[in-house]
Amino acid sequence: MNRVVALVLLLCGASLLAACDNMAKQPRDKTWTPADTNSTDAGPERKVWPPQPAPNTVAREDRPQPAPALTPALLARGKERYEIYCTPCHGYLGDGDGMIVRRGFPRPPSFHAEALRNAPTRHFYKVATNGWGAMYSYADRVASDDRWAIAAYIRALQTSQNTAAAELPETVRGTLR
Ligand code: HEC
Repeated sequence: MNRVVALVLLLCGASLLAACDNMAKQPRDKTWTPADTNSTDAGPERKVWPPQPAPNTVAREDRPQPAPALTPALLARGKERYEIYCTPCHGYLGDGDGMIVRRGFPRPPSFHAEALRNAPTRHFYKVATNGWGAMYSYADRVASDDRWAIAAYIRALQTSQNTAAAELPETVRGTLR
């Protein structure tokens, strides 16, 4: 009898050990490690926080970044992005008569109104990042650098509509009709 009990106990113990072994091997998630940490948990399975965006994608949790340097290339990028994302409501000149507005969407203020002419460039960046009233956020579609590029282009649009002919360089003035 004692032998039977001992055998049963032995088998139970063995199966418990086996269970422990399975638990150690079962599928589980790796913990997040900060992107800037030299973690020893390196390798392909290492998860990094914040998630690193793949090329040509916008991270969902894109965080506001400082403004990149203002260059002609940034302005050109801003014009391109503005015309894709903002013209449907704000229009090509920024006066708020985009195609959707002509079809009944609430009309945004003109970028040439005094209040917005006096607003700092970062205001345009912030509105594109967080949304504003009836306008929703663009942070999940337009990356941070592109939002700055758009903000810079809005500044250029404002200048284009609010500069006296007399202030223009002579070469440009000659081309005016
Ligand atoms: C679907 C239409 C729509 C699109 C697209 C749109 N906006 Fe707007 N925007 C609005 C409306 C409507 C308002 C006014 C919201 C309000 O006052 O409630 C507004 C307001 C603004 C303002 C003024 C905020 C203020 O201080 O009064 C800025 C700046 C602005 N938008 C920037 C942008 C930029 C940059 C983009 C492109 C990334 C963009 N918008 C795309 C509809 C749009």
